[in-house]
Amino acid sequence: MFQSDLLKGRTILITGGGTGLGRSIALRFAELGANIFLVARREEPLKETAEAIRAKGARAAYASADIRDFSAVEKAVEAAEEELGRVDTLVNNAAGNFIARTEKLSPNAFNAVVGIVLQGTFFCTLALGKKWIAAKQPGHVLNIVTTYAAANCGSGFVVPSACAKAGVLAMTRSLAVEWARHHIRLNAIAPGPFPTEGAWSRLLPSKELEERAKKHHPMGRFGRHDELANLAVYLLSEQADYVNGECVVIDGGLWLRGAGEFNDFLDLPDAAWDMLEAARKK
Ligand code: HXC
Repeated sequence: MFQSDLLKGRTILITGGGTGLGRSIALRFAELGANIFLVARREEPLKETAEAIRAKGARAAYASADIRDFSAVEKAVEAAEEELGRVDTLVNNAAGNFIARTEKLSPNAFNAVVGIVLQGTFFCTLALGKKWIAAKQPGHVLNIVTTYAAANCGSGFVVPSACAKAGVLAMTRSLAVEWARHHIRLNAIAPGPFPTEGAWSRLLPSKELEERAKKHHPMGRFGRHDELANLAVYLLSEQADYVNGECVVIDGGLWLRGAGEFNDFLDLPDAAWDMLEAARKK
């Protein structure tokens, strides 16, 4: 479906690119010819993923940074330019989330998730957007949101994430208009359930919860990483040049079955909540 050189000449910065969906997307971009710069907090996965990308014959480099810190983001962008040249594409993939009864959250728990998801996404977009506009060069931004943002319905039990992702979607659509004249295109993807170690250990931390989620899914299965990665490729490619400010849902029809991906946790008994909360520090 995709030509093997579809992303040749592109340099893509991916936040949260060392693990999970970010890693899978990065590897797919590399297969199609892009240079990849990974940004995340932990160095070990960054190093390993950069090596896996190089093994595919693409160029890769990384910086460890916390995207809640704007000066760290600016430094990471400088490092990317030094290592790989001009960055023309940003994928805001880094996220934080946990399942919790909202009344149990501390103010800092809200700050942690909103800081990573909303503020971090804005900081990365601002750092690169300013450069693109000053240099009169085009840019592409892809934001990974969630179905409860795309459906504009929020979701119980993931309230900080729901607030933050709704903000990211608002930012995507606002800047799609504001920056179109600078040839900067912004879109979003709203993935449903795609298994990753990071999300699963926080959101579905037992076999029972996983089975329950699968049974509830209209297609009876979770998403495959290549399905998501290929959608990201399309939206960032020149083929999608007229797609701007859009959010594409990829969830096998799950949200249509009932809005708010985690609202069904209303049925969870207190004992199960206690187990979830106890698992949190592991
Ligand atoms: C309640 C929690 C908590 C939990 C942390 N906190 N985990 N509160 N339930 N499970 C609280 C802490 O007690 C602390 O508040 C505050 O949050 C900050 O915690 P830290 O661990 O110090 O923060 P930090 O290192 O910044 O960690 C951020 C994080 C962490 C969000 C808490 O989980 C993280 O970095 N996650 C990144 C990876 C991730 O979450 N991936 C899944 C994304 S999935 P106090 O008051 O004690 O200081 C996704 C998609 C959703 O987004 C849809 C999928 C189907």
